[in-house]
Amino acid sequence: MKILVINGPNMQLLGKREPQIYGTQTLSDLQNVLIAFTENMEVELSFFQSNHEGKIIDKIAESAEKVNGIIINPAAYTHTSVAIHDAIKGIGIPTVEVHLSNINAREGFRHKSCTAPACIGQICGFGFDSYKLAIQALMSM
Ligand code: DQA
Repeated sequence: MKILVINGPNMQLLGKREPQIYGTQTLSDLQNVLIAFTENMEVELSFFQSNHEGKIIDKIAESAEKVNGIIINPAAYTHTSVAIHDAIKGIGIPTVEVHLSNINAREGFRHKSCTAPACIGQICGFGFDSYKLAIQALMSM
């Protein structure tokens, strides 16, 4: 199974960014944790991070023929992007939305996800484990 892991805006700042919420590990630590997690699984991971909505949409569109599943942390675009919602719907590949933090326990503007309704499910609040749980969810489909 080929899984693309997409991270949205400001995720390149992981480790420095609000560490009390997002922890002290970096985006490259996340990638290494996931590669180690899947070492003995029949899964091939690829990774993409962008601060630009259009680039995320292009990546989703071009992945249609290339991967079997997508894990996406749209970051702040979660709460605003009808365009990313439509891109996920448009390719019809099982997609899991993840968040490091529990967006439902934070500011009101984070409670709404524009993108989750286009996904097969949403996992939030478990730090890096949100991504591991998403891998397991896609693999058990
Ligand atoms: C986040 C939660 C979002 O509300 C926020 O804008 C982020 C990170 C998370 O992983 O907890 O950038 O997606």
